[in-house]
This record gives sequence, C-alpha cells and structure tokens, in this order.
Amino acid sequence: MSQLLKAEITDCQETGPGVWVTELLAPSLAQAAVPGQFIHIRCGEDSDPLLRRPISIHAVYRRSGLVKIMFQVVGQGTTWLAGRRDGLLDVMGPLGRGFTTLTGEQTGTAAVPRLVVVGGGIGAAPLYFLLQELARAGNAQQVKVLLGARNAEHLLIHNAVKLLGFSVGVATDDGSAGYHGPVTDLLAEELQLKLDYVYACGPAPMLKTLCGMLQYAGVPGEVSVEERMACGVGACLSCVCRVKDAGGMETYRHACVDGPVFAAGEVVW
Ligand SMILES: Cc1cc2nc3c(=O)[nH]c(=O)nc-3n(C[C@H](O)[C@H](O)[C@H](O)COP(=O)(O)OP(=O)(O)OC[C@H]3O[C@@H](n4cnc5c(N)ncnc54)[C@H](O)[C@@H]3O)c2cc1C
Ligand code: FES
Repeated sequence: MSQLLKAEITDCQETGPGVWVTELLAPSLAQAAVPGQFIHIRCGEDSDPLLRRPISIHAVYRRSGLVKIMFQVVGQGTTWLAGRRDGLLDVMGPLGRGFTTLTGEQTGTAAVPRLVVVGGGIGAAPLYFLLQELARAGNAQQVKVLLGARNAEHLLIHNAVKLLGFSVGVATDDGSAGYHGPVTDLLAEELQLKLDYVYACGPAPMLKTLCGMLQYAGVPGEVSVEERMACGVGACLSCVCRVKDAGGMETYRHACVDGPVFAAGEVVW
C-alpha cells in the first residue's frame, strides 16, 4: 500500500558518471515494496519544481529497513537530489505495478524456471531489486543477466549482480567491455536455448526490439516502460501508454498505476 512519508537519507554516493545511489531509512517502504515499483520524490525545498520525480526502487534491505534508489542526473530535480547527503526526503510510494516473480508452476514447468534479465543503461537500476528477490528465492543458477551500456564506464550493477551469484553477460556500444554491439544480440543467443521468461528495463528502442524478439520466439516476459509522469497515482493523463487488451484491441493505460511494468506482448511501440 502506498504511503506519503519522510525518509531519512543515510548515504549518497556517485557510483558512475552522473549516476548516484541514495540510501534511505524507510522501514515501511522496505516492507511493502516489490521489484519494479517506484517512489515519487519531492525534489526541492519548496514548490519548485512543482511535480515530484519518479525513481524506481533499486535495492531493499527489509531487516534494516533500508531502501536504495539509483538515478542519472538529467535536470533540475535529479541535480537537487544528487546533492542530498542527509536530512529527510518527502517520498510517496511504493507506487505502480511491479514485476511478477515466477515459480516453476506458473511457467508450466516442474523445475525452477530459466529466466533472462535484460538491462540497458540506467534501466538496470530497478533490476537489481528484482535480482535480490530472485537470489533470496534461491534461483540464481537459473537466471542469466544481460547488461548493456554505451561504454565500460557507464556499465551499472554488473559487479553487484555477480556478488549475488548470477551469471552476467555484458555488451557495450563501443566494445570497451564485453560484446561490441546491442545487448539484444546477447538475448538472441539466449533465445536459441529454452527460456521460460524474460524481464527487461531500458531505453524504448531496446525494449521495442526485445518485445519483437520475444513475440517471434514465443517467449513471455515483462518490460518496465518509462513515461513522463505528473501525479503518479492515476489522477492525470500525463503517463498514458498504448497497449493491446486481452482481445488484441488497442487501448490506453496509465503507466503509473497499470505499469510501469507491462507484459511484453501488451505494449504497442
Ligand atoms: C516509473 C519511472 C521510474 C524511473 N526510474 C528511474 C530510475 O530508477 N533512475 C533514473 O535515473 N531515472 C528514472 N526515471 C526517470 C526520471 O524520473 C527522470 O529522469 C527524472 O524525472 C528527471 O527529472 P529532472 O527534474 O532531473 O529532469 P527534467 O528537468 O524534468 O528533465 C531533464 C530531461 O530529462 C527528460 N526526462 C525527464 N523525465 C523523463 C522520463 N520519465 N522519461 C524520459 N525522459 C525524461 C526530459 O525530457 C529532459 O530532456 C524513471 C521514470 C519513471 C517514469
Ligand atoms: S502520472 Fe498522472 S495519471 Fe499517471
């Protein structure tokens, strides 16, 4: 259930070029959050900027009540946020529909499902929380993580994900680390083998390609889309997203409450 709360900032570090990780003490948020959900943050001392900024939940430590967010500095709100090393943060959340964490039964297989998790750029941020949950469920052996970035310096979460016990494949646009090319090329290799489910978050062109590949291969999955948001709770129309309903008819959904995670075959690109 979503709440309005003042979360105490306990740490803030720059972990990559313009990418920050802020740690918050927020026990009720840590208890309630599921991977893929986001928090809506007031990024200023007064009413400027007026609108809260949506940032995904990056990591959760339920026992200590800590929650982390990872964000790229792109404008006024994220610049303000990057400078906060202590104090209280005005936060609304957890919000939105998160990822479905599957069991073998749900995929129709008796065994632990074979999963691939694909992240592009800052889209890797929410996937770490998903991987924490998969690791807690003891599924690390059956999960392949594929991470793409423009270059080695901009690669995110790969070391932390290896520490969770996952096998990681890396792709960069300039070839400075791992495979030289798009991360979806690595997914194409994985699709040669039997796959039960794919989770992804990243830039829209990557997700569009990925959804096309999954449809062609007949593999289900979920993607987290990034729409501009204002209210964050379904009360305005700023985050509308075009999707197909169960009958294949095109319709619109609010990314803030019906998403940001959608079935891969649902989104109209
Ligand atoms: C559900 C959701 C989860 C998100 N999770 C994360 C996250 O974990 N880490 C992270 O770094 N970012 C995340 N974002 C994007 C983040 O919300 C924006 O980068 C942020 O709101 C920008 O605020 P600003 O005031 O710094 O920039 P602004 O001054 O508002 O904008 C600066 C530039 O960023 C562009 N921009 C702003 N918001 C978005 C957006 N939602 N989508 C695409 N372009 C945008 C603007 O068009 C402009 O060019 C998420 C967005 C959504 C909708
Ligand atoms: S952001 Fe207002 S309806 Fe989604």
